[in-house]
Amino acid sequence: MFNANLKIIITRRWPAAVEAKLKELFDVQLNERDIPMTADELKAALQSADALLPTVTDAITADVLSVPNKRAKIIGNFGVGYNNIDINTAKSEGIVVTNTPHVLTDCTADTAMLLLLMSARRASEGERLIANKQWQGWGPTQLMGQKVTGKTLGLIGFGRIAQAMAKKAHFGFGMKIICHARSKPAPEALKEFDAVYYATIEEVLANADFISLHCPGGAATRHLINEQRLKLMRPTAHLINTARGDVVDSKALIKALQERWIAGAGLDVFEGEPQIDPGFLALDNVALLPHLGSATEETRIAMGNRVINNITAFFAGKEPQDRVV
Ligand code: DGY
Repeated sequence: MFNANLKIIITRRWPAAVEAKLKELFDVQLNERDIPMTADELKAALQSADALLPTVTDAITADVLSVPNKRAKIIGNFGVGYNNIDINTAKSEGIVVTNTPHVLTDCTADTAMLLLLMSARRASEGERLIANKQWQGWGPTQLMGQKVTGKTLGLIGFGRIAQAMAKKAHFGFGMKIICHARSKPAPEALKEFDAVYYATIEEVLANADFISLHCPGGAATRHLINEQRLKLMRPTAHLINTARGDVVDSKALIKALQERWIAGAGLDVFEGEPQIDPGFLALDNVALLPHLGSATEETRIAMGNRVINNITAFFAGKEPQDRVV
C-alpha cells in the first residue's frame, strides 16, 4: 500500500519494473540522469529520505554517513557486496544496512565460468583478430589455448558463488575442485563436488590450472593476490576475478601477464573501477568485462525486489531478511 510519508531515494536507474513497484509503495526520488551521485548529494539524500538505496559503486563513507540531521534509518544496498559502505560507521550511526544475496549467485558464477573459458581459449584475442580484420584463416598453431575439461579449478573463498561455480565446473566440465576459505567448509559442502580443501591459499595457487576468486572485498582481502602469490601459480594457469578489483594487486598481475608467469586472466572487476589500469589494455592475454557479474534482466529485477522486501519489512517494524548491520 502506498505510503506518501516514506521517502525513498535511489542513486541510479533500476530495472523499470522495480522502479514502478517502488513508486506504488513509496514517495520515490529517482536519479533520472543515472549519473553517480556526489558525496554531497549522498549526504543530502541521507538528510531528506527515510531510505537510501545505493548500488555497489556508491561510496557510502564514514564522512557521508556522519552527516548531521539524518532522516534515513535504512540503507538498502542494490548488490550482495557491501564493501562500498562503511559498516562500522553505519552501525554507530544507528543505520540499518541490507544487501541482496542469493539472487545473483548463479549469474555471477556464470560470468566467472565465461571468463575462465574466454581466458583459457583466448577468446578476446580471437575476437580482436576478426574485428581488426587481421584474420588470415584457420591454422594448426593459431591461438592455441588451454583445455578446460578435466582440469583443476582452485577456488579462493567457498561461499554461495564459489559453490555455484564448483557445480558448473565439476558437473559440466568434469573439473577437479580444490579450495581455500577463511574457515574450513562443512564436509557435506566439499563432498558435493568431491572438493579438496587446502589450509593455505598458497597450496591452492600451486595446484590449480584455474584460480577463481570469491572472497569479499575490503581491507582484509586487499591485494590478497600479490606478486609473491602470483609467482606460485603454474605458467599455464589462469586467474579469474569476479569478486572485487582490489583483491588483486593490479600492477603485480600486469607484470605476471607481461612476463608470462601465468598464461592469462579473466577480469570482471578492477581496482578503482571504472578506471582501468592502462597496462591491462596493452595485453593480449587478458579477457576484460565491465563488472557484468549480475547483469541479467532476471537477476537485476530480483535484486531490486530483494531491496523492496528488505525496506518494506523494516518499515513494517520487522527484521529485514538481508540485514548486514
Ligand atoms: C554485487 O552485487 O556485489 C555485484 O558486484 C554487483 O553485480
